[in-house]
Amino acid sequence: RGPVKNICCIGAGYVGGPTCAVLAWKCPDIKVTITDISEERIAAWNSEELPIFEPGLDAVVKEARGRNLFFSTDVDGSIAAADLIFVSVNTPTKEAGIGAGLAADLCYVEAATRRIATVSKKGAIIVEKSTVPCRTAESMRKILEAVSPSTDASFEILSNPEFLAEGTAIEDLLDPARVLIGAMPTPGGQLAQQRLAEVYARWVRPEAIITMGLWSSELSKLAANALLAQRVSSINAIAAICEKTEANVHEVSSACRLDLRIGSKFLEAGVGFGGSCFQKDLQNLIYLSLSLGLPEVAEYWKQVLVMNAWTKRRFSKDIVQKMFSTITSKHIAVLGFAFKADTGDTREAPAIDVCRDLLEDGAVVHIYDPKVSEASIDRALMAKGACSHTATKGKGYIVEPSMQQACAGASALVFMTNWTEFSSKQVDWKAIYQSMSKPAFIFDGRNVVKDVEALKKIGFSVYKSGVGY
Ligand code: NAI
Repeated sequence: RGPVKNICCIGAGYVGGPTCAVLAWKCPDIKVTITDISEERIAAWNSEELPIFEPGLDAVVKEARGRNLFFSTDVDGSIAAADLIFVSVNTPTKEAGIGAGLAADLCYVEAATRRIATVSKKGAIIVEKSTVPCRTAESMRKILEAVSPSTDASFEILSNPEFLAEGTAIEDLLDPARVLIGAMPTPGGQLAQQRLAEVYARWVRPEAIITMGLWSSELSKLAANALLAQRVSSINAIAAICEKTEANVHEVSSACRLDLRIGSKFLEAGVGFGGSCFQKDLQNLIYLSLSLGLPEVAEYWKQVLVMNAWTKRRFSKDIVQKMFSTITSKHIAVLGFAFKADTGDTREAPAIDVCRDLLEDGAVVHIYDPKVSEASIDRALMAKGACSHTATKGKGYIVEPSMQQACAGASALVFMTNWTEFSSKQVDWKAIYQSMSKPAFIFDGRNVVKDVEALKKIGFSVYKSGVGY
């Protein structure tokens, strides 16, 4: 098995796209083809308007595309030509059947594995890039061996989970904190591990490339996301105590952060976590624990999700209560819809739940997000049953082209994403206040407002998550 020369990535999503674009950019002598069954997605990757927004991604794609980076709908052809295949397909939570609401739906992984079994060339290395339950590689191996037309087929499967964070994906990929490569302890497994490590070694610090066993690597991804999500729920639990005691969660977390054993990151109180991964990966871990006969472990991690759901609901309830217990027909500006800044991704965004609550309570919601299209907002709200599109009532919300327009005439503005433009010095708060209906409320679920007193002086009533004003 020689050095890797031709790579195929199955799945041109938030992970497959940026990951393999950076790989191609850094390794001009390796041909990289990113393939997907979605013609629309591949067409967008081949156009001037990429299907996802990530700072720095455009420049990377522009330089490598057509040189050694290709986007194609020819899934079989791309697999057949490759000596290393990343499986980077979606692994959502199952919606029906056994394990519904918790277990990962592995139908996309299985479909991709079957194509690999059928058309891949002998000796191709298969790499799990998707986040999968522990021991998925074992199922993949069984499928590969059973489906392969060749009688002496042998497949090497590696686990190489992706740790990029949306919004900083390119930075994370260029200088990752760690690249995990898990393999079986067989000579074939070790050689395959070495081949993939050599690819990363072209630009990643050697000490960041970590090799380990296959099952540890699979579980590490679930463990890392569970620990990150748990920090958010932990600080939000503290925030709830702060609100009742006139303590300030930002002061409390800044005191905690100084302890090196605790660390400084991911202690930002607010309206809870969103994104496609935390909830799904926790559900996955809970299901795994239950399947392994560990109900106490499952219960422990479940509480992280319970706290997150409660935090979002509590935020909506506070808005209604502070606005004199009725928001019927009141105009409310929701600023930010993406699950966090610097991404256009709305999957599991807390804004969806909060908008749904506000709409259910009869408010007219004006949504502004610099990177999320109206079509994405419609899709996200529709999926949560938050938008009925009835002929008489319309959608119940209006997507606005700017922060100022969203706020004009509104009784309250609600920060749901910490986009930098919301805290920019350019924002004319006096003008916004004048354009709003009085009393004018600010509900800050993302710690956007730093100088509460200045806004109070203008006349706003300001409420921040975790601060007992
Ligand atoms: P995504 O939904 O954006 O992309 C997945 C793509 O795979 C879709 O475009 C879909 O059409 C394609 N696909 C599905 N089945 C296919 C098949 N049989 N053949 C060809 N293409 C197929 O998902 P995303 O966000 O890129 O996530 C992929 C995996 O990476 C998931 O397991 C996720 O948990 C994991 N992950 C995601 C991160 C994120 O920030 N989004 C971070 C780290 C891991």
